Amino acid sequence: MHTGVNGEVLKIENLSFSYEKKDQVLKDINLTAYSGESIGVIGANGIGKTTLMKLLVGLNTDFEGVLEVAGHPMNQKNIAHIREHIGYVFQDSDSQLFLSTIEDDVAFGPRNYGLSEEEVEKRVEEALAKVHITELRHKQTYKLSGGEKKLASIATILSMKPDIIIMDEPSIALDPRNRRNLIGILNEIDSLKIITSHDLDFILDTCERCVLLDEGRIIADGRSEKILMDKELLEAHGLELPLSAGCRYKQNIDNVQG
Ligand SMILES: Nc1ncnc2c1ncn2[C@@H]1O[C@H](COP(=O)(O)OP(=O)(O)OP(=O)(O)O)[C@@H](O)[C@H]1O
Ligand SMILES: [Mg+2]
Repeated sequence: MHTGVNGEVLKIENLSFSYEKKDQVLKDINLTAYSGESIGVIGANGIGKTTLMKLLVGLNTDFEGVLEVAGHPMNQKNIAHIREHIGYVFQDSDSQLFLSTIEDDVAFGPRNYGLSEEEVEKRVEEALAKVHITELRHKQTYKLSGGEKKLASIATILSMKPDIIIMDEPSIALDPRNRRNLIGILNEIDSLKIITSHDLDFILDTCERCVLLDEGRIIADGRSEKILMDKELLEAHGLELPLSAGCRYKQNIDNVQG
């Protein structure tokens, strides 16, 4: 994969964006990400997480500032090329799955890359097995449950083996076993991963780095263990400590008190 001159896979400088020329949803965002990093993007409802993810895949291009993916400036000319590097899991699975069966959706990416039918078949089998939905292979998409659709969406990007994985609320709708399995899958992949979630325990388990957004700006960018343990910081921006950090926080307080 190409990178920028300093080896960055993602370069965002002074990025601002508004829908329909109204109030800015994203204001002066600066973020550089390198190969192998895993970055959680957190923040309250409606704060701009999905908007930022959509900019990264070129679903909106009328932003201000610099946005470079895999060494290429994001613009109409480069979008198709940039997308070859990115696997994007939509927050809303119905936007993701557009073919009639799961098998077709999971095969779509590899087939588009021009891989042989033999390789496509291998990728499909592997991806379905990884998220434990092999038996749903021939099922019609519209008949799936919410969680099954999420797992199928995740399979559609696993089959692509992308350099950059962007997942918008991947753990939403997953039961504890499937959620735990997804954590294991993500931790085995060394692509650049950018994950938004309100499940802060999920972020803690999958992302070393975390970016907190509020009012369209980056409020904090640092180690997840630090940001996600900072009760005052999280509460000041509409969030709460993740459950596991809450337990550790209480233990610390108990120890201090005596
Ligand atoms: N297509 C659109 N046109 C106009 N406004 C939009 C559009 N999509 C999103 N918005 C607005 O932009 C803001 C940010 O939305 P976004 O979906 O990025 O939030 P989010 O942080 O992902 O929230 P959530 O946690 O609920 O998923 C919200 O105020 C939303 O109403
Ligand atoms: Mg969102």
